[in-house]
Amino acid sequence: MNQPLPASRPTKLLAADAPGITDAAALLCAGGLVALPTETVYGLAADATSGAAVAGIYAAKERPSFNPLISHLPDLASARRQGLLDANALALAQAFWPGPLTLVVPASPDCTVSDLARAGLPSVALRVPAHPIAHAVLEAAGRPIAAPSANRSGRISATSAAHVLADLDGRIDAVLDAGPTEVGVESTIVACLDGAPRLLRPGGVPREAIEHVIGRPLVIAGDAGHAPISPGMLASHYAPAARVRLDAEAPDDGEAWLGFGPDAQEYPASLNLSPNGDLREAAAHLFGYMRRLDETGRTTIAVARIPEYGLGEAINDRLRRAAAPR
Ligand code: TXA
Ligand code: MG
Repeated sequence: MNQPLPASRPTKLLAADAPGITDAAALLCAGGLVALPTETVYGLAADATSGAAVAGIYAAKERPSFNPLISHLPDLASARRQGLLDANALALAQAFWPGPLTLVVPASPDCTVSDLARAGLPSVALRVPAHPIAHAVLEAAGRPIAAPSANRSGRISATSAAHVLADLDGRIDAVLDAGPTEVGVESTIVACLDGAPRLLRPGGVPREAIEHVIGRPLVIAGDAGHAPISPGMLASHYAPAARVRLDAEAPDDGEAWLGFGPDAQEYPASLNLSPNGDLREAAAHLFGYMRRLDETGRTTIAVARIPEYGLGEAINDRLRRAAAPR
């Protein structure tokens, strides 16, 4: 892959206040790279309409440039200028925006999102985030903002400004620090391209809630007859340095332990995603706890079984990718 090397530059820490929002929007409009908080994870933001600015994202993340990016907008009206929402897409937007849902739809004839951000596809991925700071920056920028998760490619997604800096300090212009993110896993991605809505990535909106709105089961991308069209479906992704062992009853000698629900026993190097067995709390802790266990230097992280409903589907999806052979 022919990519420019990320240029070294000082990374400013911006506060989540009016001057911080103004500075972030000005940097974005000037083609800069700014890590922004959203309710899911921190996004590495750039002007989606500028191929040069978007190229900066790929360089900073060292991300394969065939991966299309999500464009973020402040409201439904501005999203509808970029993409063509059919009846299902519109119902989903009305039910879940602002919020952790991304819709992949045909690009509108007036779409201003650059070819590079769309990876040359005739479709565009749109999201209206619920975070008030993200919303304020999007309004001030006045254009679609591309933002993949603010981590280096293949690493664990960043859920705090400190996580962003651990991966990207010196590679981006600024990070806007609004504290830890609330949802903790990325948005659910649904493609509405040809009538039957397809689940491209489980995420912050549970599948059951989406199926309730569209009144039928979602087709899963990758099911027979459907090629996986979302490169985010790559098997190995979200990887810590340690190996990950799933559905464990308990840690073996020397393993770190990521628990869920009441743990009868205490282990060394262990964290519990949610001692009460609350899947929302578990999602919010997932990436941060994987980082912390990775930092213990243990070579394997054993992970307790997580239920496969509600947000558990997104949590298990990320864990399976973290555990996939690399
Ligand atoms: O919660 C989130 O979604 C975060 C925050 C920052 O908004 N963003 C995020 O973006 O996770 P990213 O770039 O890491 O994930 C984008 C996913 C990728 O899996 C990509 O392949 C898929 O969206 N995608 C984007 N455009 C697409 C398109 N036109 N067709 C199919 N998949 C698309
Ligand atoms: Mg990511």
